[in-house]
Amino acid sequence: MKKTKTIAVYPGSFDPITNGHIDIIKRASQIFDEVIVALLINKNKTPLLTNIERKRLIDLSVKGMKNVKTDKFSGLLVDYMKKVGAKTAIRGLRAVSDLEYEFQIAHTNRKLYKDMETVFLMPSSNYTYLSSSIVRQVYSMGGEMECMLPNHVSKLLKKAR
Ligand code: PNS
Repeated sequence: MKKTKTIAVYPGSFDPITNGHIDIIKRASQIFDEVIVALLINKNKTPLLTNIERKRLIDLSVKGMKNVKTDKFSGLLVDYMKKVGAKTAIRGLRAVSDLEYEFQIAHTNRKLYKDMETVFLMPSSNYTYLSSSIVRQVYSMGGEMECMLPNHVSKLLKKAR
């Protein structure tokens, strides 16, 4: 019998993509046949980086990862998942403090698309503290971000200062 390809979508704002996100992408790529890192284009939010910049940084971050693709979407995640034929969404879970927000998203998605599952992956303990919003805060105050970001991301942020 032919095995169905497992496709997982890793959605997010990625403003910017951090080493923590990349850690999750690598873990997911070892579990699923294909991982799509999907950038949410949210017209109601003003991100630090433009849609084009965020997408480009994601592209550079996954270069060389054979079963990882990148894409962007707007609107509901469940609609995007149906479009690409994925039933699994990946989310990173760093600490208990993430749970409430993540459960809200996962339960809402399940209500909207009953066949879908959210799989939570735990990043390396090195990244437990790390989030895009922490990076944006450190950036806005002129701090060093090298240990949090891939080179191409910290380079772009430094240039934009
Ligand atoms: O990186 P983020 O901002 O924590 O990611 C949040 C994201 C993109 C997963 C979530 O906001 C999302 O899926 N938004 C798309 C709109 C949607 O489907 N909303 C219903 C579930 S909350």
